Amino acid sequence: MNDFTWGVATAAYQIEGAVDEDGRGESIWDRFCATPGKVRAGESGAVACDFYHRYPEDIALMRELGVGAFRFSIAWPRILPTGRGAVNAAGLDFYDRLVDDLLAADIVPFPTLYHWDLPQALEDEGGWRARSTAQAFVDYTQVVVERLGDRITHWTTHNEPWVIAFLGHEWGIHAPGHTSEQEAVDVAHHILLSHGWAVDAIRAEAPDAQVGIVLNLEHVDPATDSEADRAAAWEMDGRANRWFLDPLFRGAYPEDIALSPPVQPGDLEAISAPIDFLGVNNYFRFVVSDGPTVVELPNVQRTSMGWEVHPDGLYKLLVRVARDYEPASIFITENGAAFEDVRGHDGRVRDPERTEYLATHIDAVRRAKEEGAPIDGYFVWSFLDNFEWAMGYSKRFGIVYVDYPTQERVPKDSFYWYQQRIRSLQPA
Ligand code: FCB
Repeated sequence: MNDFTWGVATAAYQIEGAVDEDGRGESIWDRFCATPGKVRAGESGAVACDFYHRYPEDIALMRELGVGAFRFSIAWPRILPTGRGAVNAAGLDFYDRLVDDLLAADIVPFPTLYHWDLPQALEDEGGWRARSTAQAFVDYTQVVVERLGDRITHWTTHNEPWVIAFLGHEWGIHAPGHTSEQEAVDVAHHILLSHGWAVDAIRAEAPDAQVGIVLNLEHVDPATDSEADRAAAWEMDGRANRWFLDPLFRGAYPEDIALSPPVQPGDLEAISAPIDFLGVNNYFRFVVSDGPTVVELPNVQRTSMGWEVHPDGLYKLLVRVARDYEPASIFITENGAAFEDVRGHDGRVRDPERTEYLATHIDAVRRAKEEGAPIDGYFVWSFLDNFEWAMGYSKRFGIVYVDYPTQERVPKDSFYWYQQRIRSLQPA
C-alpha cells in the first residue's frame, strides 16, 4: 500500500443480499429481522444492495472513485452454514472471486472476519455468551485464511466488540436482542478472546499479513468542569473505550469499572497478543454528566441518526489513543454520516452536509497525524446506502445512492468530492 490509504467500507449483511443462495446458512440477523418489532418496518438484509450479484459493477464504480482499498466483511454463514464443521465451497468461491476482481482493479481487499452475522446454529448453542464460540471463530478463521491468505495483506478480526456485546446483549436493539448486562460482559470477553486466538491462527497461516481489530471509540467530554461530571466522563470512557483498549494493549481490564468478565488463566495474555494495526470507527463524541448520563446538547448540528457533528472529537480521540496505547498503526476504518438524501429531478443527489462532514473529519485526521498519531488510512462509511441494522433502509450513509426498487447506483456529490480529494494526492 502507498503511504496513505483512502478507502470505502461496507459489511456483508448490509450489502450482499442473496441470503438463501449458494448454501448460505441462517445468521442471527436473518432471525432478528424476522422477529416482529425488532427492525424498522420489518425490513431485512435479504436483498440489500444485491452486492452478491452486482459486485463487478460496484468494483468498477470504486475504480472510478479512485480508492486504494475496499473494506468488506466475510459472512461466516456462507463459509460454514452451521457455524462449524462442513465447509460450503460456494461461499468461499464468492470471496475468492471478489478478492481477485478487487486486486485486478488495483484495490486492496481489506476484509473483516466478523461483522455481526453469527451463524444462527451457534447462537442456538449459546452464541458469544458461550466460550466455545470463541474456538468456533478460530476454526472459521483458519478456513478463510487458508483460502485467501495468499492474497490478503490486512486482516481484521472483529468489528466493534462494544456494539456486539452491549447493543446486542444488554440494550437488546441488535441481534440477538438480549437484555442482560452480565451477558454483555461475557460476550465482550469471548469476542476479545477469540480475537487474540485468531491473531495467532492468522499469523501461523499468513506470517507476512498485517492483523488488527476494529473498535468503535468515542471521545468523551464532561458536560461541565465539575468534579462529578469529570468523574462521569472518565467512567463513560472506561465502559466505552478503555474496557477494550486496556485488555488489548495492556493485558488488563480497567480496575475502576465495576464489571466482572469471565477471565480464565491465560486469557489476558491471549487478548493482548501484539497487533499490527488498530482500526478505529468513529461517528460522534459523548458529552456526559454525573450518572453517567449522556447529555444531548441543544443547537448543534446532528446527522439523521441524531448524532452530533463534532470533528474535533475525532482529532482528540486519535491523539489520545496514539499517546496512551501506542498502536503501531491506525486506520480510520469507518467514518461518515447519514442525511436525508433525495434524488433531484435532474437525477443528481446533492449532499453538501455529507461532503462537509467528510472534509472536516478528514481534516481532523490530518491534524492528529501531524501531532504524531500513526494513521495510515481512512475509509468512508459507506460506499453504498445500505441496510442500517435496526433502522433498516431509512438511514442513507452512502456516497453512492441506491435506488432500492431498481438497484440503480447514483454517485452523490460527496462521491465526486471524495474522488477529487483522493486525486489531489495529498495524504490526510
Ligand atoms: C457502525 C457499524 C456499521 C454501520 C455504521 C453506521 O457501528 O460498524 O456497520 O452500521 O455504524
